[in-house]
Amino acid sequence: MTLAPPPSPPSPPAQEFSFEDGDFRRIAALALAEFGLSLSEAKKPLVYSRLARRLRSRGIASFGAYIDMLEAGSDEAEKVQLLSALTTNVTQFFREAHHFDLLRQELLPDLLERARQGGRVRLWSAGCSTGQEPYSLAMTLLDLEPKAAAFDIKILATDIDPAVMERARAGQYRSDELTGLTPDHLRRWTRPVPPDAAEIGPGPRSLVTFNTLNLIGPWPVRGPFDIILCRNVAIYFDKPTQARLWSGFEAVLATGGALLIGHSERLPDTMLGRFSTIGVTAYRHTGTTAKAPLREGAL
Ligand SMILES: C[S@@+](CC[C@H](N)C(=O)[O-])C[C@H]1O[C@@H](n2cnc3c(N)ncnc32)[C@H](O)[C@@H]1O
Repeated sequence: MTLAPPPSPPSPPAQEFSFEDGDFRRIAALALAEFGLSLSEAKKPLVYSRLARRLRSRGIASFGAYIDMLEAGSDEAEKVQLLSALTTNVTQFFREAHHFDLLRQELLPDLLERARQGGRVRLWSAGCSTGQEPYSLAMTLLDLEPKAAAFDIKILATDIDPAVMERARAGQYRSDELTGLTPDHLRRWTRPVPPDAAEIGPGPRSLVTFNTLNLIGPWPVRGPFDIILCRNVAIYFDKPTQARLWSGFEAVLATGGALLIGHSERLPDTMLGRFSTIGVTAYRHTGTTAKAPLREGAL
């Protein structure tokens, strides 16, 4: 009696689109040039699965045709879709709570005092996703000073992705997106939207201005800022892009101003002479650098 050969393992499902190393390299080069995104070879399967969805939804037959279209520069909106597909918008109210403790206890009281005396206070949430970060900042200000909106205090909130900017402006969140807000915050600074959502109330809203902005490009911002939060954004960038980003923030940050960055991000040693560490991934600008020129129509 002869034994039948063992069954061969099932072959992996064929990929819907061909995705060659050359395709991956072209996408990586484009993502780096346009958005400072750093895509290592290890991300190839992820890039395939995220972008295959874009090809499907646009009815494009091949990666080659998709990349040709992006490189031709005729569809800027699709470039943003590419970035959106390759990064995450994950955020939360009062995320990395230690920064909000620092803001409440050390950074904001002096700024509020300045504002009460007629001074100007400017904060920037750069890469703010769907808005939970700048609204948390606004609630922290209002907790300390319920009349904060009557003073010259503004929070600029920017993100590259127009879809998240739209959601941020709408300021409506499902119950699962309200994580991080205490019952007191919910009661004071939001309004219920039946059946189980809530929207940001007029107080926090009046402090925040949203604008679309690619951090890898010119910044039409009118500094100087007293506090900049840019958290969990630079992780996507390669080192030279990160270095340009930190220098850019330094140029628009007031001397004595604070820069708060994400838990896995660090300022390079070369900048630490001009910044002192004031908390976990929190830095105060101590040095003087040339300030960025103000531009017409600045945000
Ligand atoms: C993970 S979210 C971080 C949100 C918030 N800062 C936080 O820590 O919860 C990253 C955000 O950075 C934005 N982003 C990525 N690249 C960007 C760029 N080049 N310019 C501006 N925003 C960018 C993404 O659209 C996304 O909304």
